[in-house]
Amino acid sequence: DADRDMAALIIKISALAEPIRNEFALRRGKADTKNVFGEEQLVLDKWANQFLKEKLKNTRMVKMLGSEEESDIIKLKDGAVFSVTIDPLDGSSNIESNNLVGTILGIYRDDLPVQGRKQVAALYLLFGPVTTLVYTVGKGVHEFLYTRRGFLLKEADIKLPGRGELYGIGGLRKDWTPGMEKFVEWLEREGYKLRYGGSFTGDFNQTLQYGGIFAYPALSSKPEGKLRLLFEANPMSFIIEQAGGISSNGKMPILDIIPESVNQRTPLFIGNKDL
Ligand code: AHG
Ligand code: MN
Ligand code: MN
Repeated sequence: DADRDMAALIIKISALAEPIRNEFALRRGKADTKNVFGEEQLVLDKWANQFLKEKLKNTRMVKMLGSEEESDIIKLKDGAVFSVTIDPLDGSSNIESNNLVGTILGIYRDDLPVQGRKQVAALYLLFGPVTTLVYTVGKGVHEFLYTRRGFLLKEADIKLPGRGELYGIGGLRKDWTPGMEKFVEWLEREGYKLRYGGSFTGDFNQTLQYGGIFAYPALSSKPEGKLRLLFEANPMSFIIEQAGGISSNGKMPILDIIPESVNQRTPLFIGNKDL
């Protein structure tokens, strides 16, 4: 149900999954540089950013690119149709321990930065035991498994289960607000099981599959939380709404936030509506 341009762009992005995955074993260690958020970059963070930038430029379909690893929006091709946001490598602290990582993309027709509600597509690649691609173009959420024959449909029109099973919450517990503490005590009493993996893509994907809630809340040490509105919260919020769920910064829907800067962070609560 995607229009031709959109389908072409998503297919081109899907072809990047294997080359990205192939680098995980080869490009190891720290890059000795920091990104605009003051976070230490891995060799892979920088490589994935350059690789995606170059490949998206080569599509000649992307006018503007926003990346977690860049301080400003980059102009790629005047007059092209789409703007794209990327978290080139999400969950980089999981590289050393060989746990889940992902790549997250948001696609717009508008110029960046703009409200998440303006997204026309969102997708992520999850590099687990199987590489998967999950996308929405605003007509449901669909999941594909990477195989020797390319991506094969695993499930069309994924919806969150009516009652969720899991919760995962980031940040040091001592930095949570009293409200957050209470909420988690309540989740425990209600029988929600803790699962936190340290990669947003992985933690989001398990929320989508089993239902429940993922949060990276405001912390006393980080009042804006940790996750980035444009590169992380917005694409996953588009996907969760399409799967029958909801996301919030604790005050308003994530997708309604009007960004004040490209590199804005936001507290994030995402998952089943009742939670
Ligand atoms: P990134 O690797 O793109 O910088 O993102 C890291 C994020 C996200 O993937 C995860 O939810 C969170 O940081 C984990 O943070 P903690 O290490 O505080 O658990
Ligand atoms: Mn990330
Ligand atoms: Mn990242």
